[in-house]
Amino acid sequence: MALPLSDTTKQADNLTTMELGAVLPKTAEVKEGHLFIGGVDMVHLAKEQGTALYVFDEADLRFRMNSYREAFQSRHENSAVIFASKAFLNKAVLKVLEEEGLYLDVSGGGELAIAQACGFPMERVVVHGNNKTPRELEEAVAAGVGCIVVDSRIELARISEIAAAKGVSQDIYMRITPGVAADTHVYIQTGCEDSKFGFNMRDDWAFNCVKDAQEAPNVRLKGLHMHIGSQIFTAQSHREAIRVLVELMARIKSTYGVELDELDVGGGLGVAYTVGDAPISIDEFAQEVVSAVKDFCAEFDVKVPRILCEPGRSLVANAGVTLYTVGILKTLPGIRKYVAIDGGMTDNIRTALYQANYEPIIANKADLPRTEIVTLCGKHCESSDAVVLDMSIQKPDLGDIVCVFATGAYNHTMASNYNGQPRPPIVFVKDGVARVVTRRETYADIMARDLD
Ligand code: LLP
Repeated sequence: MALPLSDTTKQADNLTTMELGAVLPKTAEVKEGHLFIGGVDMVHLAKEQGTALYVFDEADLRFRMNSYREAFQSRHENSAVIFASKAFLNKAVLKVLEEEGLYLDVSGGGELAIAQACGFPMERVVVHGNNKTPRELEEAVAAGVGCIVVDSRIELARISEIAAAKGVSQDIYMRITPGVAADTHVYIQTGCEDSKFGFNMRDDWAFNCVKDAQEAPNVRLKGLHMHIGSQIFTAQSHREAIRVLVELMARIKSTYGVELDELDVGGGLGVAYTVGDAPISIDEFAQEVVSAVKDFCAEFDVKVPRILCEPGRSLVANAGVTLYTVGILKTLPGIRKYVAIDGGMTDNIRTALYQANYEPIIANKADLPRTEIVTLCGKHCESSDAVVLDMSIQKPDLGDIVCVFATGAYNHTMASNYNGQPRPPIVFVKDGVARVVTRRETYADIMARDLD
């Protein structure tokens, strides 16, 4: 038994699709009983492309990118929004990102290679990772990336050496671990003291390493960086952590007479996966972050730096949905109702990994109320293989098309080939047009790397 016990007393919520509110992509609508996104009928799309299928609402993606940029720039002109590509990455989203004027966070050579292949402007790329390999650092410096976020003293020495060998000067931030535990799942907290990420504040380690960063040849310390965790519903922990970083900037100023130009506050804003989730809005988040930076800069007497933020999930999660076909129904009276779909932990590992939960509907019954409580289980050989645990859905029948909402972040990028499962294609929908932007993986793709 690997799933949490089903609550057999839970009552179905009787909601219809449009009552799911903030969980839905912006252009979701119901027409003649079918779910439409971007003006495209999801039932027809599923039949045409097959399932499992990732679908993204392009207007929603653009809307959120714009909202973020506007929200920060209207409060502090000298700001930029960096998309954390680990949340969702393919060539199509990079094109949209570039058109919308955002920057890009890559956390390894692979993500950087995709950005290079798309001709994404390298000066808008920020490189992350707690153990970037020497080869990845070489690639980043050679590519001319805008900034490398240095995670440790060992890495600082490596970057300095690589930049010297190439005869260039590399801009860097130092990633600071502020010692703040954000209110979220422990697996996705990254700002507390016991963290593999960044320079710790304990025993003045971070402060002591600033000197090394300033003295290292061929690097230029532009600013500080923090990222305290993910799926966080308020900006309280960001405020606490920003205080720690601004205070550090003030000490750097008073000790070395240097005022750092930039402060990257990381990502972490949460999204509504289920109807009960109520994160603050993008606008409120920007308001809180910018005023925290300004307040503490005034308190500690440092100039207000360029402000960068680094959202992943809150830019893409609600723009994406996953479509599946119902293959098996299995009711265990007094225990649970299983609805088996043609995907699962290979396209969405988050439920097995974090007990995440999602709102499902049946796309061909989208106007009906959700009258049953079910577990949507996958087709893979693991008992923990489920996408939805004990949630309401319309009465399911074999062959129905299930739509699971808010699967745009950390689903495609964390997908696997377990059980030899080909990964789903990605379709962007907009103004009544569906375009396949990543094709379905084939069996041949899966064996392509095996040598005879
Ligand atoms: N910046 C850095 C340095 C990060 O490590 C991350 C996420 C972000 C920005 C973006 O955070 P966001 O805005 O998406 O919260 N797989 C987990 C999430 C892991 C987040 C890793 N870092 C999940 O599916 O919930």
